[in-house]
Amino acid sequence: MSNFYSEKPEIMENIKLKEEHTLRVCKNIVHLGKLLNLSKNKLYMAETIALFHDIGRFEQFIKYNTFNDNKSENHAVLGLKILKKNRVLSCLTNKEKEIIYKSIMYHNMPELPDNEDSGCLFYSKLIRDADKMDILYVVTDYYKKRKIHPNPALEFELPDTNEYSSCFIKDILNQRIIKSHELKGYNDMKLMQLSWVFDINFFPTLNYIHQNHYLDKIIKALPDTEEIRTIQKSIKNYVEKRLISKI
Ligand SMILES: [Fe+2]
Repeated sequence: MSNFYSEKPEIMENIKLKEEHTLRVCKNIVHLGKLLNLSKNKLYMAETIALFHDIGRFEQFIKYNTFNDNKSENHAVLGLKILKKNRVLSCLTNKEKEIIYKSIMYHNMPELPDNEDSGCLFYSKLIRDADKMDILYVVTDYYKKRKIHPNPALEFELPDTNEYSSCFIKDILNQRIIKSHELKGYNDMKLMQLSWVFDINFFPTLNYIHQNHYLDKIIKALPDTEEIRTIQKSIKNYVEKRLISKI
């Protein structure tokens, strides 16, 4: 990471942002893994995936000046190229490498493939949860600072208007995950982040999101309209049902 440190504050800020994100995702995944009673070896596997899941982000930002994969390249694929080129995981078995590579590859896909083996899917679900826990922290914390210190990289350089795409309201009401390549504005990005609630795999993650009021914080940053109040109710119902049934 330190290879990418820069004297330019706008670059350094975003390199640091991803460095700190990575370290928090490592902590999140270990915490989550412990709550799920994973063995020591499985915790090491999970932590390794977290440590390298965003390794492509640094080169991506330096090369393209954006974190938007649609305007640059898929940062997970880029990360895998870096890991393989530098033989970072050469001391691991082929099976371990395969699980780590695939979990990184799948961490930013809208949905997980259903034809994958259960071991690989388990780690993929772990990293997706641990990653979302931190992204929701980062974006809701950003809403507080945004007026004083805007950072276009955290908004995918999308236009900030009062508009949002009505099709995404429908997606949320139908519990569908919104895909990043369809975003037209910054509010759409907030709706996508709300829709991630339908892609939370483990109860402790959902509980963590609920206790930190991340979803309400995103709602507050959206325009106060009837549609937004409707999705707020719908999401609240969904979360409450899952929390009660502990799934
Ligand atoms: Fe990522």
